[in-house]
Amino acid sequence: MIDDGVMRVIEKMERFQQDWSDSWNIPRGQGLLMHQLALAAGCRRLVEVGTSYGYSGLFLASAARSGGGVLDTFERNPDKIAQSAEFFAEAGLSEFVNQHDGDALELLKQLDDGVDFVFLDATKDETEDYWRVIEPKLAPRCIVAVDNTSTHPEQLGGFVRMLRRLEDFSSCDVQVGHGFELAVRPG
Ligand SMILES: C[S@@+](CC[C@H](N)C(=O)[O-])C[C@H]1O[C@@H](n2cnc3c(N)ncnc32)[C@H](O)[C@@H]1O
Repeated sequence: MIDDGVMRVIEKMERFQQDWSDSWNIPRGQGLLMHQLALAAGCRRLVEVGTSYGYSGLFLASAARSGGGVLDTFERNPDKIAQSAEFFAEAGLSEFVNQHDGDALELLKQLDDGVDFVFLDATKDETEDYWRVIEPKLAPRCIVAVDNTSTHPEQLGGFVRMLRRLEDFSSCDVQVGHGFELAVRPG
């Protein structure tokens, strides 16, 4: 459930979106879909690489709260870290979000095992590197979403092909938002 308090912050961010030209956030439909997926699968350990101002994080943290879990989200831009912390607080979600401040490539190594939802949405050329660190930490049953597969096919095409070759995952393209790859391991 996305409660009224969270929706108010989502709507506020949408109203003032032009103020943050470097937000690069997903559209609302994609946030809602990922929220529903995480809810349906009962995800409790959600990870996001690329917090930006926290827009997608609001949907994911809301799902984490419903599932009795937490969102670990990674960002290296100090202004975005500070601003997203304010939005999470305003939405009443702070206690369901661990913000990791710095280079995700380093910080991801400290994550505990058992991650059951991952959203990769940071530097596209680094996506395969994030994956190498996160993959061993995934729960047997898990969901992986990779943003911008339609908008950045040159950078993400090889990674998508690799995901589709994994025998234990089922992976497909979802034409919602910027187009994202959705990989599911049934466990
Ligand atoms: C596309 S934006 C994320 C948008 C956000 N997921 C949303 O939909 O609201 C990508 C973010 O990843 C951050 N980023 C890129 N590479 C990073 C890295 N190696 N470690 C941490 N953050 C990184 C950038 O600073 C940027 O804010």
